[in-house]
Amino acid sequence: MCGIVGYTGSRRAAPVLLELLKKLEYRGYDSAGIAVCYKEQIEIFKRKGKVENIALAEKMQGSTGIGHTRWATHGAPSEKNAHPHSFGKFTIVHNGIIENNKVLKEECLLRGETFLSETDSEVIAHMIAFYDEGDFLLAVQKAVSRLEGSYAIAVLSSEYPDQIVCARIGSPLVVGRNENGSLLASDLVAISSEVDKAYLLKDGDFAVLGKNGIAFYDEKLKSIEKSPMQYDTVLSNADKKGYMYFMKKEMEEIPSVLSNANLECANGLSYKQFCKVLCQAEYIHIVACGTAYHSGLCAKYAFESLCRVPVEVCIASEYRYNNPIIRPNTLVIAISQSGETADTLAASKLAKDRGAYLAAVTNVPYSSLTRIADCVLETKAGAEVAVAATKSFNAQLAVLYLLALFRAKGEADFSEIARLAKETLKVSEEVRGWTHYFLNAKSVYFIGRGVDYCAALEGSLKLKEISYLPSEGYAAGELKHGTLALVDEKTPVVAILTQHELAEKTMNAVHETRSRGARVFLITSLPEAAKSGEATASILIPACREIFSPILSVIPLQALAFYTSLARGNDPDKPRHLAKSVTVE
Ligand code: F6R
Repeated sequence: MCGIVGYTGSRRAAPVLLELLKKLEYRGYDSAGIAVCYKEQIEIFKRKGKVENIALAEKMQGSTGIGHTRWATHGAPSEKNAHPHSFGKFTIVHNGIIENNKVLKEECLLRGETFLSETDSEVIAHMIAFYDEGDFLLAVQKAVSRLEGSYAIAVLSSEYPDQIVCARIGSPLVVGRNENGSLLASDLVAISSEVDKAYLLKDGDFAVLGKNGIAFYDEKLKSIEKSPMQYDTVLSNADKKGYMYFMKKEMEEIPSVLSNANLECANGLSYKQFCKVLCQAEYIHIVACGTAYHSGLCAKYAFESLCRVPVEVCIASEYRYNNPIIRPNTLVIAISQSGETADTLAASKLAKDRGAYLAAVTNVPYSSLTRIADCVLETKAGAEVAVAATKSFNAQLAVLYLLALFRAKGEADFSEIARLAKETLKVSEEVRGWTHYFLNAKSVYFIGRGVDYCAALEGSLKLKEISYLPSEGYAAGELKHGTLALVDEKTPVVAILTQHELAEKTMNAVHETRSRGARVFLITSLPEAAKSGEATASILIPACREIFSPILSVIPLQALAFYTSLARGNDPDKPRHLAKSVTVE
């Protein structure tokens, strides 16, 4: 949700900032802007739309600047609401939400100040100016002490043209150095290939970036030392590698991600303790959002069937307000690709406050979630840039299935599953030929039973998210209890079938929907169902252990969403109104 960047050094800042912003576009792309200090003046260039719309800013002079790519929360996407925002000597960019912005604004208005935007962020510049008595860092510290909510900010002052002050609470921020200067960004992905050393700011930290170094301070402005982050340059690098779309590249990476699946990456000593907790837990709660929630639903089937341990899977934003009952001996597993999803973080903190042991399954080893978890299980899928999650879902499933197998003392050959995923990717290309049936659909149903129902939910989310078609994932057996009334020739149905025991029952739903005029597209690992001719079209995917089948069956569903999105003229990597890494509640 919004990306912020900064640079001060020996190069011209504008081209550096634009490059960094492009790498953060997954965090929002409804407007963008940069501000650069030049001759003790701060110049701003901002526009509605993607970072490419501020390409002309490239020519700006000056070697210290900040930038922003926005996902609107307060105020519509527009030039005036785009960041940076200025007041007096100060110019800021902000990621997060200032919850008490109205109260603070009132205070500023009473002082006779005026606002140019409808954002919650502009007030930060006003507050810094209010507290300014000549000490840049102190003014920022006093101002942020008044803020409620979450923020990562970077600030320029026309009085200190070679410095950037930054601070964070609740929104991610990393800084780094190379021989040409100092950089900052909301995500390591933006700067990992640019810097020699990167440092993670913790909540309450401040950093002052200068051309020759970075100084760190705690919340009381006491100078602190920081150790550089340890990170894998390959995994943290976001590059399209010749693909037109990140989403396609990330889907193609699924087999290699699966072949790397293991639990070894869990953090050292705490892993041993975690194994004990895992094996002795009497209850498991899984908290997550969106696609990660769906991987939790799939994991429930695996844990319950292999380990006979009861699992509750909860949407994180609901969990935290539902006064959850957390009994002694409850293991809470938080699943989050980014490790920064505000709702998942809040639910995790609540679970910990209530005494639960918290394990995190995440793709970002330096994320906020890893700092609150008792044990971290990395999915190691590599940077995922497309807003729609693909390979991270398969990677989460791999880790979660391995956990269930660990407790059940079972085994699975993930190199074989990886091989099957490769085959599945190949056959999934066939869904490209289905897209014309979906282009103008009134709505689309994804149906299945058991684990196929979980895959159906994920297939539906993927389609609506990037093709903007209304769609619903539905338990196949539940259709006839009301929803069948909506099915007609304008509602394509995608049926998923990977479980022998449920084949007949799922095929009943296929017949029921076909009889109401729907075209039915079958994704199955059962050759007899694929051959039966009972669906309008079908693809046969490889079979794996049935309880794990969503790890393969989701692949053609991801492909269907991808190709339908393209056929409808959308950018599958950057769906409207959305952003990856949802750092606001
Ligand atoms: C859908 C999608 C989202 C995320 C959700 C949680 O394709 O990407 O639904 O799954 O926002 O994000 P993480 O996993 O980062 O917590």
